[in-house]
Amino acid sequence: MAVSRAMALRGGTAAGPARRRYIPALPTLWPGMLSPLAADRPPPFPFGAPRMVPFYFARNAVFHAVRLLGLAGREVLVPAYHHGVEISALAAAGAIPVFVRVDGRMRLDLEDLEARRGPRAGAIYVIHYAGFPQPMDEIRTLARRAGLPVIEDCALSLLSAEGTRPLGSTGDLSIFCFYKALPVPNGGALVVNAPGIAAELPEPEAAPLASTLSHAAGALLANAAFRLGETGVALRAAARGVVRAARGTSGRLRPVSTGTSTFDPGAVGLGMSGLSAAIARRLDARAIVDARRRNYFLLLGRLRDLAPPPFTEVPAGAAPLFYPLPCDDKAAVRSRLAARGIETVDFWRTGHPLCPPEAFPEVAALRRRVLELPVHQDLQPEDMAYLAACVREALE
Ligand SMILES: Cc1ncc(COP(=O)(O)O)c(C=O)c1O
Repeated sequence: MAVSRAMALRGGTAAGPARRRYIPALPTLWPGMLSPLAADRPPPFPFGAPRMVPFYFARNAVFHAVRLLGLAGREVLVPAYHHGVEISALAAAGAIPVFVRVDGRMRLDLEDLEARRGPRAGAIYVIHYAGFPQPMDEIRTLARRAGLPVIEDCALSLLSAEGTRPLGSTGDLSIFCFYKALPVPNGGALVVNAPGIAAELPEPEAAPLASTLSHAAGALLANAAFRLGETGVALRAAARGVVRAARGTSGRLRPVSTGTSTFDPGAVGLGMSGLSAAIARRLDARAIVDARRRNYFLLLGRLRDLAPPPFTEVPAGAAPLFYPLPCDDKAAVRSRLAARGIETVDFWRTGHPLCPPEAFPEVAALRRRVLELPVHQDLQPEDMAYLAACVREALE
């Protein structure tokens, strides 16, 4: 398993930023995970949930959730702090988004939600940010009183729990994205929890093989770059050059990209690949959660005095997806970290065009300031020390 690999491979104990390392934004694919000898493990939630439909990505699950709940022409109360593509998927399926305040600590404002709930409201849409839970008991109570179903968006909170209760297990429907937290080439899911939703579940089409192989190769190369230092980085760059040249000569080699912000109605029926399912079966969920919690704590301990994140505690069960670093000049910090070999994500810079930014100033500030730092399961304590030292240097 990734977390138990030999740290000695990269040598050194440097806690300072002097030595350049490659720190990937996403977990990488270790060759051993593809071995036919690798043992399957008991599936964590939502894998193995009785009514789970695996899709190519989460946006497809959002689209089908609207269809299953019959929300076309109805309002859906959605957080003003969102990615954007989930809103596009809701709207493409015919729902009307009504935006609700989220505060500067990424908490959905339930009073504002109540105030904005009108007679055409058809559902409440909740997003758990960065692996940290929104208060599902309160939300469920409110929803029950209003007679509305809850769609629980766990695209950023796979394997996370509120105590011992997995996120995504109490919403009427829940949405997952797998490739943000696991080294799978594609994958997301729709999970139906409410017994009252009796409609037949969609049957997705097969994922395109070329896309699956292309993303898996990219994750294997990222692993080489991570493990082998400069040699691996050079190998990855060379392979990318070959792929770019091949794509230049044949438009047919273009894969169905994950992680984009545009909703493609033509891809709404695409399912998850068998390769993603096989990799997911072999992962040690406990070890992944433990590594993410440890890495978040390590960054928190080293950065909270300089740049306290919206989440200054890691509640029991939470599996952080990343460390939301607040900074005044995201672009500058990003480029300084990139120069140190560290990949970051400019988290949710813009929202969906239907959501007026000036109506939600705290959300606008989050969009302007939050930079996503990796805390994933490939990273070891010395990686986190290096990352924290580089961040301090970049901020100061
Ligand atoms: C909260 C949320 N929901 C849904 C999605 C859609 O995920 P996918 O890219 O798997 O379609 C995203 C994408 O980042 C997201 O952040």
